[in-house]
Amino acid sequence: MLPLTTLGDLIADLCLDVESFPILPPGHQTLSGLALGPGGAGNALVAAARLGLPAVALGCVGDDWIGARVLTHLNAEGVEAGRVMRQTGADTRTAVRLRAGTGEQVFMGRPGGLGPATLPETWAHAIADSGVLLVDGWSFFHSNPALVLQGVEAASQASVPLLFDPGPRVGAIDPEWLRTVTRAATVILATEPEHQALTRQLDLRDLRALKSLRALILKLGPGGCVISTAVERIVCPGYPVEARDATAAGDCFAAGVAWGLLTGQPWAVIGAIANAVGAAKALKVGTALAAPTRAEIGDVLRAHSPELARLFEWASPTS
Ligand SMILES: Nc1ncnc2c1ncn2[C@@H]1O[C@H](COP(=O)(O)OP(=O)(O)OP(=O)(O)O)[C@@H](O)[C@H]1O
Ligand SMILES: [Mg+2]
Repeated sequence: MLPLTTLGDLIADLCLDVESFPILPPGHQTLSGLALGPGGAGNALVAAARLGLPAVALGCVGDDWIGARVLTHLNAEGVEAGRVMRQTGADTRTAVRLRAGTGEQVFMGRPGGLGPATLPETWAHAIADSGVLLVDGWSFFHSNPALVLQGVEAASQASVPLLFDPGPRVGAIDPEWLRTVTRAATVILATEPEHQALTRQLDLRDLRALKSLRALILKLGPGGCVISTAVERIVCPGYPVEARDATAAGDCFAAGVAWGLLTGQPWAVIGAIANAVGAAKALKVGTALAAPTRAEIGDVLRAHSPELARLFEWASPTS
């Protein structure tokens, strides 16, 4: 099977589970959890690898110990990270998350290196050899924007489907960059506010103007998702789970969409399986290191849709 490849936005997540907010000096709290691992594109990569997909990381980390740790985790998960660049003298971009048991959370970002200015030839080859390329809007801020456009172009040239998730900062992305990536996208994944911001940014009244687009997938949190194609609108209800932490559910959902595309599923099945991947993530606290396993996704499906659970087992690449 051809791999899911991600381009850019390879960051680290440091997740600290605190007792309560506010956190004010002087004070002392006991952490109930501390995890340092991949974040950003790493969330989708780990979720994809756990789904049994070949997953390839194209991006950059610093040559610090945090970057080494991100790579160790990606390798341990079976993600192909051999082409990830280690930028000399650069820090690895890190998102620090403080989260209390109430679900309240605070994010703090430590900037890092943007990586190469132009697309290395080995990355262009890796993209051309992919089954799906996943790009998110964070890559505009966390990587070199021109390099990402070159990667998108390499995918178009090789007819590799492009999944684009504009992300929550879509309103701050340069409209020209956004237009180029959106025009090349095969599937757009967005929450409702992100979709609204995207169409506003591009002054786009009708997504049918996007010639490469095969589906717009609106992510609705516990509500699941709605998939619009040229001919149909498919409502895929969410699964009623006892969600603990939906952070990174969207990235894991994207891996579920890639799984569906790479195993040749119809859109209704893609939406239903991706919902299960997102729901299974929401049951766990954390980001990439808490991406759901295939067994956990199977549990969600068995509880709510036994028929899909059988299809999932049967179609899983490593079963
Ligand atoms: N509380 C929940 N219960 C069930 N399923 C959920 C829940 N939250 C998220 N999901 C599943 O995960 C998918 C993606 O979640 P969400 O809509 O929060 O995307 P997102 O905001 O892009 O996530 P993030 O950016 O934090 O990764 C949803 O469409 C749904 O399938
Ligand atoms: Mg999102």
